Amino acid sequence: MGVTWSERMSVGVPLLDSDHKTLIGLINHLQRSIGDDEEYASVGSVLQALDEYAAHHFAREEKMMEACRYPLLTQHHGTHTSFADKVAAFKARYTEDRTSVRARDCLTFLNSWLIDHICTTDMNYRSWLIGHPGAEAAAQRVSLTGGTAKSAQVDWPKLRVLLVDDNLNFCEILRTILGSVGVATISAVHDLDSAKAVIGQDRLDIVVSDWHVGEESGLDLVKWVRRGPPDQAGLPVLILSGHERMTNRDLALLAGADEFMEKPISARNLLLGVARLVGKAA
Ligand SMILES: [Fe+2]
Ligand SMILES: [Fe+2]
Repeated sequence: MGVTWSERMSVGVPLLDSDHKTLIGLINHLQRSIGDDEEYASVGSVLQALDEYAAHHFAREEKMMEACRYPLLTQHHGTHTSFADKVAAFKARYTEDRTSVRARDCLTFLNSWLIDHICTTDMNYRSWLIGHPGAEAAAQRVSLTGGTAKSAQVDWPKLRVLLVDDNLNFCEILRTILGSVGVATISAVHDLDSAKAVIGQDRLDIVVSDWHVGEESGLDLVKWVRRGPPDQAGLPVLILSGHERMTNRDLALLAGADEFMEKPISARNLLLGVARLVGKAA
């Protein structure tokens, strides 16, 4: 059973609540990655995203505490560091030997640490941060994508994204990452016919497709998109692949993809890649 965010976990600051929901969502994805066909690609992507979001969220929280002159900042920072170290250790073990980290190994620690931290340590700053004029401004200045020019120009809540992957769990991981910056219109399909139907019917800003969609190829989808009417032919397509061969990138680009990324993916790189492609198409 995964953990569900509830109002009793609210620290009274919407931006931080939303970060906490993303972190809880990622841990739940880890749980669902157990036994996944692409378990290693999923676990690696979730660990990478957790590492990135934890660093981002902790920086944001600490900037807010600093702005409010919160007296327990040093101790709080210490507990953040210990969590970040643990996630980094899981990630390093995974990078070294993919078979050494199973989703189940990480779950107990992550679940209990995060829930305990949100409900006790984070809850302590609640009354200091709520309504503090400098805190909100300090939080806004910290973003996962580092406020690069391209990502700052993207109107994330208005973005319309189509995900094409037969791995439902991976679609949800992508949905969580895109949702963390406010993307609300995300369709997910699991075969090429459904993808073509959505592309022919809906207005989209970008397609993110796996290379292997069941027995079908995401590259065939790109070629089909490029052969379509002008509106469709220019649609940015980002191809992901869990299979590591350097030639993949060239083949994907040759087929007409705008960008290629290997799984495990980085949440930050995914968002920066999407920002770059929709920026280029605009
Ligand atoms: Fe927190
Ligand atoms: Fe915290």
